[in-house]
Amino acid sequence: MLFNKANFCIAGALLGLSATALPLDARGESCEAPHGAKAIYFLTNENSNSVVAIPIGLNGTLSGGATIATGGKGGNTVNATGGANGPDALGSQAALTVVDNFLFTVNAGSNTLSMMKISKTDPTDLSLVGEPAILPGQFPVTVAASRKNSLVCVGTTGAQAGISCASYSGKGLGDMSPLTAFNLNQTTPPSGPLNGVAQTFFSEDETRLITTVKGDPTRNNTGYISVLPIEKIYSYSGAHDTRSSPNGTAVLFGSTVIPGTSNIFVTDASFGATVLQVNPFTDKVSLVSKQTIEGQKATCWAAYSKARGSVFVTDAALNHLVEMSAVDAQIISTIDLTNGDPGLIDLKISGRYVYALSPGNGTTASAVTVVDSFVGEQIQHFLVNGLGAGKNSQGMAILE
Ligand SMILES: *[C@@H]1O[C@H](CO)[C@@H](O)[C@H](O)[C@H]1NC(C)=O
Ligand SMILES: *[C@@H]1O[C@H](CO)[C@@H](O)[C@H](O)[C@H]1NC(C)=O
Ligand SMILES: *[C@@H]1O[C@H](CO)[C@@H](O)[C@H](O)[C@H]1NC(C)=O
Ligand SMILES: *[C@@H]1O[C@H](CO)[C@@H](O)[C@H](O)[C@H]1NC(C)=O
Ligand SMILES: *[C@@H]1O[C@H](CO)[C@@H](O)[C@H](O)[C@H]1NC(C)=O
Ligand SMILES: *[C@@H]1O[C@H](CO)[C@@H](O)[C@H](O)[C@H]1NC(C)=O
Repeated sequence: MLFNKANFCIAGALLGLSATALPLDARGESCEAPHGAKAIYFLTNENSNSVVAIPIGLNGTLSGGATIATGGKGGNTVNATGGANGPDALGSQAALTVVDNFLFTVNAGSNTLSMMKISKTDPTDLSLVGEPAILPGQFPVTVAASRKNSLVCVGTTGAQAGISCASYSGKGLGDMSPLTAFNLNQTTPPSGPLNGVAQTFFSEDETRLITTVKGDPTRNNTGYISVLPIEKIYSYSGAHDTRSSPNGTAVLFGSTVIPGTSNIFVTDASFGATVLQVNPFTDKVSLVSKQTIEGQKATCWAAYSKARGSVFVTDAALNHLVEMSAVDAQIISTIDLTNGDPGLIDLKISGRYVYALSPGNGTTASAVTVVDSFVGEQIQHFLVNGLGAGKNSQGMAILE
């Protein structure tokens, strides 16, 4: 599909969107007024893994969509009796990510990382760049990319768990670095959702790779946050990261950096969410504030809203969006949804629009809910089972 540049500029101006609320035109076209995002992406995470790409219209709604094979296999963490977990099959945030016109995705069942190129004229036209790269760990669940460093990093949470990175260019992926190992005593596939890597992401200035590792309160096993300066990524032998277990946290999960600060916002599935500070001198992470969400079941995913200066979180077992302060995690508002979804997992925000994935539960269809955060209401409930997504679906990324 082709976007009409003039329409974008007019629509942006008419809506009164501020320059800070929307990103630069990723295609590098000169356009005075900013415009909205072009497409969302998530994984089917089925045995034959695929990316589902759905274009975003001028008014923020979704239509159409395409399903493109990643060349790898999806996977599921397993429960106490060895059954496949789902929804939230991977127990992670950011199973795929987009930077510029590249998309990177994990293939949990084949221990690989795929790199894809997004067509500049059609955001649903994806093509593999090279073969999927074999990772030094098992069961990858989360991936982050740094434009500044041309670096992509993957968190694995199987029998060999940890983080590993590779440089990338338009020609493909470089060699994976040795694993910075986490001793989780896990299996492949891992038991879940507790005791495992939840998300890996870059600090705002992209000098550090930050990884949340969920604990298991039932086994008195405290989770932690790993901070790895990027210059240490290629160091051999031993762990070069700094690990902290901020006071009062247990199951640290999805995260987002808070622009303009060295703070990060991290959910904790056992009570709600926290604001944490990453000490720029010691790389130690400490608690700034924590907030319990009453009645919550599994608050696991977080996304920062530039347009509102706040953070939205989702719960795998409750069909609501909770908006929280980026300063101290206080609850600003709760948007209760009535579309019949059992809960929401990964989400992304562009301008005023929030895109949150519900994998469904096998009987309830998978869907993406679009919420207009300025009015606090759903504007669309877009079913995605026709695009090959079911209860294993995971991740959310956006092209702006
Ligand atoms: C958004 O635009 C589409 C197509 O242009 C239209 O069908 C839909 O009704 C609009 N939705 C809203 C909420 O404005
Ligand atoms: C484990 O998963 C299987 C298949 O998904 C399910 O039938 C079973 O009830 C689950 N067991 C537990 C203890 O949750
Ligand atoms: C590691 O996991 C196995 C089961 O998979 C368990 O028997 C063993 O006690 C665990 N070891 C530690 C140190 O937790
Ligand atoms: C849990 O671990 C902490 C420190 O590792 C220890 O002080 C405490 O006694 C343990 N609690 C239980 C119930 O095992
Ligand atoms: C941890 O938090 C508890 C209460 O939430 C407080 O009593 C204790 O002093 C804190 N410990 C540190 C090291 O800050
Ligand atoms: C799926 O979710 C719906 C809506 O919350 C619920 O009514 C239904 O019982 C769930 N089914 C399963 C198999 O969990």
